Amino acid sequence: AQSLRESLFVVNQFASEYFQNILYNDIDGQRIGMTYLRGRGFRDDIIKKFQLGFSTESHDALAKAAIQKGFKEDYLVKTGLCYRKDDGSLRDRFWGRVIFPVHTLSGKVVAFGGRVLSAATKNVQMKYVNSPESEIYHKSRELYGIYFAKQAIVRQDRCFLVEGYTDVISMHQSGIENVVASSGTALTSEQIRLIHRFTNNITMLYDGDGAGIKASLRGIDMLLEEGMNIKVCLLPDGDDPDSFARKHNATDYQAYINGHEVDFIRFKTNLLMEEAGKDPIKRASLISSIVKSISVIPDAIVRSVYIRECSQLLQMEEKILVEATAKLTEQAR
Ligand code: CTP
Ligand code: MN
Ligand code: MN
Ligand code: MN
Ligand code: MN
Repeated sequence: AQSLRESLFVVNQFASEYFQNILYNDIDGQRIGMTYLRGRGFRDDIIKKFQLGFSTESHDALAKAAIQKGFKEDYLVKTGLCYRKDDGSLRDRFWGRVIFPVHTLSGKVVAFGGRVLSAATKNVQMKYVNSPESEIYHKSRELYGIYFAKQAIVRQDRCFLVEGYTDVISMHQSGIENVVASSGTALTSEQIRLIHRFTNNITMLYDGDGAGIKASLRGIDMLLEEGMNIKVCLLPDGDDPDSFARKHNATDYQAYINGHEVDFIRFKTNLLMEEAGKDPIKRASLISSIVKSISVIPDAIVRSVYIRECSQLLQMEEKILVEATAKLTEQAR
């Protein structure tokens, strides 16, 4: 039977090739798009590998090209590449942007992200425009970069998790290929299961700013529930994995990660202890929060290892933590 889903993937593939063609063969694609990408330090081979593209300022160039090739208007709307104006005419979602195609695990183009170029418009326009949810695109199920990362994840039995498109691309360029991005939103359990197919080991690599730290904490309990081993590595304040990659070669990057990644329980405990200070009420609630994290870990042995470590860090009797954890674990059953 005819499959709408497969048709939409075909339309996305057409659009991806269209955007790439603009980047390589259009005057503005070269003058504006390629200049921007090279200016950020992306190498030509990496730009090609990630199938980056460009959309010109025209508000219906893709729509026209697709229809001229015989693609149905309906498909352009259903992929989210175009939308209908009040008068019924089609308008491109992406224009005047660098295009990042999002690939499924098997390499099909499922969505696009588009980044504005000029700093001047930065405050007026959203920095990124993304494909809307569609029959084929469920943001919560996809991970940017998984198609390009899966081999390296298996080889190294480890996956780095970052925030954005450019973080993934820059790390690849500096030789670290086992990396995927949650694209700026909190991680979902479906995304975690996608990684879990290839490895048990995740290192979250986040900006050293407050938002990065909060994002790490949000993801953590969910990763534990899935039985993953989690480490957290914070970059220096002001850096993201992309900007850090520009300043350090692969060896130094790896060395930084190896020297700064900490086990999740240590990370959470240190962070919360700093916040709580000597305030007994705050300390009590911090301990509850950590106990709650430990209680979701499926493996009893892993739980007990964490409880021991926690009792040392918090200078709490192990027995009390064991009891509190057991209570929560039972409640969850
Ligand atoms: N994001 C988004 N929409 C926005 C801002 C961010 O979808 N308006 C997503 C993108 O996937 C982006 C990620 O969140 O890659 C991280 O956001 P941010 O750190 O702001 O962007 P960077 O990836 O660092 O992009 P750049 O370096 O180009 O500023
Ligand atoms: Mn496992
Ligand atoms: Mn940030
Ligand atoms: Mn960033
Ligand atoms: Mn960035």
